Amino acid sequence: MTRKYLIAGNWKLNAGGAKGIELATAVAAATKGAQAEVVVAPPFTVLAAIANDLEGTHVGVAGQNLYPKDSGAFTGEISAPMLLEAGAKWVILGHSERRQYFGETDASVKDKVVAALAANLCPIACIGETLAEREAGKTLEVCFRQLDAFSAELAKRPGYGVVAYEPVWAIGTGKVATQEQAQEVHAAIRQRLAAVSAELASKTRILYGGSVKADNAAGLLGSADIDGALVGGASLDAAGFAAIVKAAPAT
Ligand code: 13P
Repeated sequence: MTRKYLIAGNWKLNAGGAKGIELATAVAAATKGAQAEVVVAPPFTVLAAIANDLEGTHVGVAGQNLYPKDSGAFTGEISAPMLLEAGAKWVILGHSERRQYFGETDASVKDKVVAALAANLCPIACIGETLAEREAGKTLEVCFRQLDAFSAELAKRPGYGVVAYEPVWAIGTGKVATQEQAQEVHAAIRQRLAAVSAELASKTRILYGGSVKADNAAGLLGSADIDGALVGGASLDAAGFAAIVKAAPAT
């Protein structure tokens, strides 16, 4: 089974206006002709404008979150149909920052995955352990618990949804997981998906995230079960991000 590499840039709380438009245009130019699939996840304020600018290019647009109701009295929230209408085809869900700072739980992440799939928005569902959990030997226990919350939903459309493994201790810290550490967890995640369905395991792209940069991307992306990257800080620079995109092996 060949899975197309996917490199997604999570801009987080950055580049939410004119800077975002500029960055998206620069990313499209710098990654033109890339073999890997390319996605950018800008803040909501600039998402529709960027999706409009990028229409017809190879770069897809993702939301960074959604609320799992289509509409109604939910002040401050944004729904899956709204993201779709704004031009997004993807959505990042359950990022560790949302779990840590905004009270997201395994149950709420599952609800969001369900809402994304119902709206034909491709979910990039994030899982990953904290440093304390890793040091306590609980890496797989935590990742499996988070994965199990939504894997049966992903199995309804095998290969459509994406899983991102982001060890929390590697996010924004410059402490990238070694190729071996990352591959070990990715292989375990794939095995766990295989318990749901063999097709789900072979078709699901599992991205690595956590301090991915141009200089460590090739090693990570060369690992058997790493099918792409979810890039934070390094996605705010078009040239650096393009170098990560180009580090994906040919498929
Ligand atoms: P950094 O690449 O800045 O470590 O962030 C990773 C991340 O959280 C992507 O979602």
